[in-house]
Amino acid sequence: MAVGKETLFDRFLAPIFRNLIDRDAIDAYYHSRDWETASQQFCNPQVDYPDYYQQNFHGIQGGYLNLSAAFSYDPIVQYVLPPGESIVRSALIDRITSQPRRILDLGCGTGSTTLKLKQAFPQAEVVGLDLSPYMLVVAQDKAQTANLDISFCHGLAEATGFPAHSFDLVTASLLFHELPPAIARDVLRESFRLLRSGGEVLILDGNQPILRSTPWLMEVFEEPHIKAFAQNSLDADLSAIGFDNVETEAIWLVHQITRGVKPIVGRVQFEAIEPTAEAWAMG
Ligand SMILES: C[S@@+](CC[C@H](N)C(=O)[O-])C[C@H]1O[C@@H](n2cnc3c(N)ncnc32)[C@H](O)[C@@H]1O
Repeated sequence: MAVGKETLFDRFLAPIFRNLIDRDAIDAYYHSRDWETASQQFCNPQVDYPDYYQQNFHGIQGGYLNLSAAFSYDPIVQYVLPPGESIVRSALIDRITSQPRRILDLGCGTGSTTLKLKQAFPQAEVVGLDLSPYMLVVAQDKAQTANLDISFCHGLAEATGFPAHSFDLVTASLLFHELPPAIARDVLRESFRLLRSGGEVLILDGNQPILRSTPWLMEVFEEPHIKAFAQNSLDADLSAIGFDNVETEAIWLVHQITRGVKPIVGRVQFEAIEPTAEAWAMG
């Protein structure tokens, strides 16, 4: 893994992960495929990578545009979501109050939450969107292995190109702490635009008040935007954008799930948009 020198991540976390993770399994996966060819299928030529995205994340140079970020992500993340990755991701699924027909998972990464969404709502059309083609390769591999029909798209969470009112549920897990505040608000505005009336947004991330009171935790993970995330309030941002029933619940102390509902304005709207995910991906 290309890890930055002299970072806290390098000095403290990397040695721990080196002992915990199955290095042979990671190497075997890395050598099992031609990553450049596989990632090409996801490369949307209309995507310009913003500067905020091309910084080092978790001590990895180039962040998620570095191939090593993709194949080392799952082996590490399984150890950093106490009390357990599956429990924390399931907490988001458990808080879905509707029976969504179309679901969009923003910043889906390697698809760990996306797969759970499809398993929970097998009839729903599920789309995962991410800016890293390498992360999308891993996500698609996992969906195929699990025999789950999920569409994965390469794009910006703040400007997806999907039609307005085209989703019943928009989710994002572990995305918002990686965004500068202005972009985070753009992603919330985009979510509002994409949701049909009565649709819900659910966001799983670090617990903002807890992060504010534990500055050392924010240093350790080498996240360029996490301090700004901690200073903000997703509740306030969702409310300002127009979501109703906004609430944030602490999950196992260090995580939070924030929920909001797009208000139903006037009478019930019947949206006639039935495009396929592939058509949406083309914008
Ligand atoms: C910490 S990972 C979380 C991945 C996944 N949601 C999970 O729960 O494991 C953050 C992901 O967000 C993606 N990302 C960051 N900024 C993005 C943006 N503006 N648009 C789309 N994806 C973005 C990154 O490429 C990365 O895969």
